[in-house]
This record gives sequence, structure tokens and C-alpha cells, in this order.
Amino acid sequence: MEIIIQANPEAASGIAARFVARLLRAKPDAVLGLATGSTPLRLYRKLVQEKLDWSRVTTFNLDEYVGLEPGRPQSYHSFMWGNFLHHINIAKKNVHIPDGQVQDIPDFCRRYEEQIRAAGGIDLQVLGIGTDGHIGFNEPASSLASRTRIKPLTNRTRRDNALFFENESQVPHHVITMGIGTIMEAREILLLAFGKNKSGAVARTVEGPITAMNPASVLQMHPAAKMVLDKAAAAKLKKTAYYRWVYENKPDWQKV
Ligand code: GLP
Repeated sequence: MEIIIQANPEAASGIAARFVARLLRAKPDAVLGLATGSTPLRLYRKLVQEKLDWSRVTTFNLDEYVGLEPGRPQSYHSFMWGNFLHHINIAKKNVHIPDGQVQDIPDFCRRYEEQIRAAGGIDLQVLGIGTDGHIGFNEPASSLASRTRIKPLTNRTRRDNALFFENESQVPHHVITMGIGTIMEAREILLLAFGKNKSGAVARTVEGPITAMNPASVLQMHPAAKMVLDKAAAAKLKKTAYYRWVYENKPDWQKV
């Protein structure tokens, strides 16, 4: 895993935006995996400012709450369109966000996987991380080989995500999420984590054992995973001096 530590979320998001921009310039019909949450918001703002051409880009979002109408402000549909997709020239038909209202969830999940395959697979998957190490909504004990499916949330995640709702009781218990196996098939992974409440999950992910109890730790097995952190999220890592040295001494051809 490549660990990139920046002074603050602004600088870290700037680097993440450069990775995405570089991909889109090299491959105008790239397939991006997108994440929700407060963490990628600055990245999306910066990508809007970049004025890139999104007309041939395809996107797949990681997850959605089951049972929330897409128009509800807390739905990930509203989040993505409001914070990002409405502000770029993406074609609506190229946007894929799990539908939390479908009747036949297993059938929907199978088709979501097929759509990802038909698009040629995900070139770059953007990820955040939960305080319990979840990626997408793959909670601890998720199969590391899981595919897109319905998943119940832990109380901790419902508590963490309650700030977007009126209160915790409003947070749905179930979600549809890409599986860990699905995420691992992306050709590149860009995980962002900011703030000290993510520092434990980050340290376990980078320097701990690979375990389903900390789902993000599976990224140690990914051949091209980058973690872009602010100082606070990196605070519990042991080898920060080494990670910083590696990043600052990259050969020119590896720099973004
Ligand atoms: C939710 C999302 C994850 C996200 C996590 C962290 O659980 N399903 O994709 O990484 O929240 O959110 P935040 O960035 O707000 O801390």
C-alpha cells in the first residue's frame, strides 16, 4: 500500500483530485467507483473546479440505504447528485447508484455486478473508511470475497452516520453495498481518511493483520492501493517517517 500523508484534508484532497484528473485525461471513458460520506466532499468540489470532460465517464457508487426514497436528502442518490454529479457533464445513463427501493434485492445486486463487468471493470475506486474499518458498507466480519449484496449495519455505524439524519433511530438498518471482492477487483484504489477518529482504523488497516474484523485491511492484498491521509488520521501509524520519505523521494515519472 502507498501511504501519502498531508498536513490537512485540503492538501490531501488536492492530491486525490490530481490522481482522478490524471486518469480521466489518460482515459476519457474511464470507469470510476465513487464513495459517499463527508470525507470525499472536498475531492468532489475540486473535481468540479477542474472542469474535466465527464461526458464519456461511467460511475458506480459503492452503496445505498435500503428503504430510503432516492429523493430523501439522506439517500446516497441525493448526496451524489447534489454534491457532485449535477455539477459535471456526466451522462445520466452512465451513473450507477444502488437502488435501495427495489423489490428483488438479490436480482438487483447480480445485475449491478454484471453492469460493472459490462463496463469493463472499475479503473479507480474511491473509498472512505468507517471508524470500525468498514469500506463501502462492508461491516466487520464481512466475507473478504463478498459481492454486491444486502448488509445489516452495526450500531456503531448507525451511530456514526446519525449526524446526517434527525436522530439515530431514523438510520436504516439495511444497506446495499458492493462487496469486498467487488472492490478488490478495481484496478486502482484511492482511500481517503481524515481526522483523529479515523486514526485507529487507519493504523489497523496499514500495519495490522489482514482480518475480516477490520475489512479495509484486505487492501494490503491489492496491487495498487493508495491511502491519502491528513496528519490526524495518520497519527497512530508507526512508520510515518518511512512513508513520508518514500513519497517525497519518488522518481519524477511516478509523481502526480
Ligand atoms: C459510510 C459510507 C462509507 C464511508 C463512511 C465514512 O459508512 N458507506 O463509504 O467511507 O461512511 O464516512 P465519513 O467520510 O463521513 O466519515
